[in-house]
Amino acid sequence: MPSDRTDTAAEAASAKTMVAIEADGLESAAAYKLISGSVTPRPIAWVSSLNEDASVNLAPFSAYVFLTYDPPKIGISIGPSTAFVKDTLRNIERNGHFVVNSVSPDQLQSMVESSRRYPAGMSEAADLAVALTPSLRIDTPRITDSEIALECVVDQVVEMGDRDAHRLVIGRVVTFQVDERVLQRDRIHAFAPVGRIGGPLYVMPGEIRQVRTTPDDRLP
Ligand SMILES: Cc1cc2nc3c(=O)[nH]c(=O)nc-3n(C[C@H](O)[C@H](O)[C@H](O)COP(=O)(O)O)c2cc1C
Repeated sequence: MPSDRTDTAAEAASAKTMVAIEADGLESAAAYKLISGSVTPRPIAWVSSLNEDASVNLAPFSAYVFLTYDPPKIGISIGPSTAFVKDTLRNIERNGHFVVNSVSPDQLQSMVESSRRYPAGMSEAADLAVALTPSLRIDTPRITDSEIALECVVDQVVEMGDRDAHRLVIGRVVTFQVDERVLQRDRIHAFAPVGRIGGPLYVMPGEIRQVRTTPDDRLP
């Protein structure tokens, strides 16, 4: 009954008060809290990359999105690079390839630990005993236990002109490695990784709903 729904929405709307925060002139830290708490839940790209000595660097990035599908490309925002360049960015730029591994609930703690500021060249994978498996098309190995791993070659590294000098790393997926349990014919089905919300908060996979548009013959 559409009229009931409208009434409920109107009541809810009248009960809430919006706080408008001007973005111009915000301190970096304040803007970070607002944008990272607003754009949620975010999937996490747990990136494996090769250090100069061929040991394996791991780090999570939740400023991560799929960009195109023909060919398939993903984007990851890495920064800030003001004080030091993150190992992941340095490795990706040097080698031209990396793997985006998915994060399931039982990988959450290792994923978070891998975000600590390890000395350059020290392998998070070795220190945290994260098992690795060789990739098919690139030299960077993937994380064995991840349900999905995207083998990527670097397409572009884009400067974004922000004060903290973030780089948008655009990767082209050359191989999809998919656990057969989440693959249904040619489709990823009921794959439910951990999502990041504000600060150190994560959402665990919960209810999954299938929703389709209602047929509407008023639309062209
Ligand atoms: C869940 C999570 C998501 C993160 N997302 C990002 C991100 O999108 N961009 C970024 O620059 N740093 C992000 N970080 C911080 C990096 O993981 C952290 O700086 C790490 O030490 C980088 O490691 P590296 O120097 O080995 O590349 C995130 C950390 C966590 C725990």
